[in-house]
Amino acid sequence: MKRKAGSHPLGKPVGPSGRPSTVFLVGFMGAGKTVVGRRLSRRLGWDFEDLDDRIQTRERRLIAQIFRESGEAEFRRAEHAALRELLAELGSAPRIVALGGGAFAQTKNAAMLQKSGAAVVFLDGPADELFRRCEQEHIERPLRHDARQFCELYEQRRPFYLKAGWRVDTSGKDLDTIAAEVACSLGLQ
Ligand code: S3P
Repeated sequence: MKRKAGSHPLGKPVGPSGRPSTVFLVGFMGAGKTVVGRRLSRRLGWDFEDLDDRIQTRERRLIAQIFRESGEAEFRRAEHAALRELLAELGSAPRIVALGGGAFAQTKNAAMLQKSGAAVVFLDGPADELFRRCEQEHIERPLRHDARQFCELYEQRRPFYLKAGWRVDTSGKDLDTIAAEVACSLGLQ
């Protein structure tokens, strides 16, 4: 399932070895993009960034506040702008980036990532497990309401996530195992 290596004027997402030097983690809420990303970055000694943090810094507001005060469309605009900025900054330092659950389901974001040549890894898992994980995390997620709505949104988005170059199943696995599988599937370890 490997994508052809390549580089792009936006940055250097592929290292001299031909292996990716920028890895984007995508997937639904509760997939573990941030926690797995942090583990992976420690494992590889790479930088880590969460796109939602960049959005909050740029907007000087929390994600939930952006949704509350300005609505989802404005959040998506801010998300796209933050992703564009991040891609333009990619340099020689290898980096893991966790995207928010909706980012890769926006076609213009997916197109931008594809063009960048960076590796995009889908952290997959069944909706009921993701819902349970979100419940345990106690993080305010504006697009997570009840289980039924969560599953509907999951089904709607899954075809987009499946367009990622790599897919790692997270079901029933601990964080270190998932991080190791991501590293292995990308040939980074
Ligand atoms: C969103 C997921 C959130 C955050 C925002 C929108 C989504 O990130 O970006 O609340 O559309 O699924 P997580 O996937 O990290 O919860």
